[in-house]
Amino acid sequence: MDATVETPATRRIRVWDLPTRLSHWAIVTLFGICWWAAKSDHMRWHRIAGYAMIGVVWFRLAWGFWGGQTARFSDFVRGPTTTLRYVRKLLSRGIDDAPTPLGHNPLGALSVLAMFALLVSQTTSGLFAVDVDGVASGPLAHWVSFDTGRRFAHWHATNFHLLLALIGVHLCAIAYYRFARHEKLVPAMIHGCKAPASTAAAPYFVSRWRAVWLAAGILLGVILLVNAR
Ligand code: HEM
Ligand code: HEM
Repeated sequence: MDATVETPATRRIRVWDLPTRLSHWAIVTLFGICWWAAKSDHMRWHRIAGYAMIGVVWFRLAWGFWGGQTARFSDFVRGPTTTLRYVRKLLSRGIDDAPTPLGHNPLGALSVLAMFALLVSQTTSGLFAVDVDGVASGPLAHWVSFDTGRRFAHWHATNFHLLLALIGVHLCAIAYYRFARHEKLVPAMIHGCKAPASTAAAPYFVSRWRAVWLAAGILLGVILLVNAR
């Protein structure tokens, strides 16, 4: 698959593959639907969007092992030394000297991991949550006692506020890169391409059929999970 788009004046490189971009915007949309549905008491919609969220999150986590280069955790998760070095460069040598990797930078990688951890925690706690009168409950709530179900519901509510805080940080970081470093990360997450300052090599990608098979497997898994008795 050709990953570069050359024009006489600019060199654009495809950085994010389609499954990664689709997963991101699906997460954003489903998060909005879950939030709206919970707050307006449309619990049927909350469950449907929540199930879809489970599928998208697990798909993206699996794509972190089998997807294209920039989607892989092995590509962007760095150790504390590299992350600290990146932060020090960002702070001391001035913003323009800090190297910008094609995919997530070492600091962004930390927030990506934290966001996925909170999304897993949000969706898993929802599966077991019971509301105060026992009417709205997750599909696996019958596996636990009412009190445990209530504890899951409390965790679900607390975790939601942690997620909101992290999303606030996420959006501030994107605004910082846009206005302080003149890097437009959002269009890249839409069309997938960046114009790198350096002569960085184009990342590799994998067949989209792999994404289709993975998505089909995860869909089956979610159907079995939410119907488990
Ligand atoms: C990222 C996805 C999700 C988000 C953002 C989310 C968000 C929320 C929010 C904000 C509430 C209201 C909490 C409150 O103010 O008391 C709620 C309640 C609830 N959610 Fe979710 N949720 C998600 C996924 C799920 C999933 C997958 C399920 C499983 C079916 C689920 C089941 C429930 C239940 C049963 C309640 C009612 C708990 C109660 O009233 O105490 N949620 N959710
Ligand atoms: C309209 C609001 C949002 C915008 C404009 C936005 C934009 C972006 C951009 C530009 C990136 C790529 C960052 C980079 O280049 O390193 C990104 C990554 C990410 N965002 Fe958002 N985001 C939004 C909302 C959210 C929400 C609500 C969540 C979670 C609930 C979220 C979770 C993530 C995650 C997990 C990644 C990593 C993507 C991956 O590697 O698959 N974002 N976002």
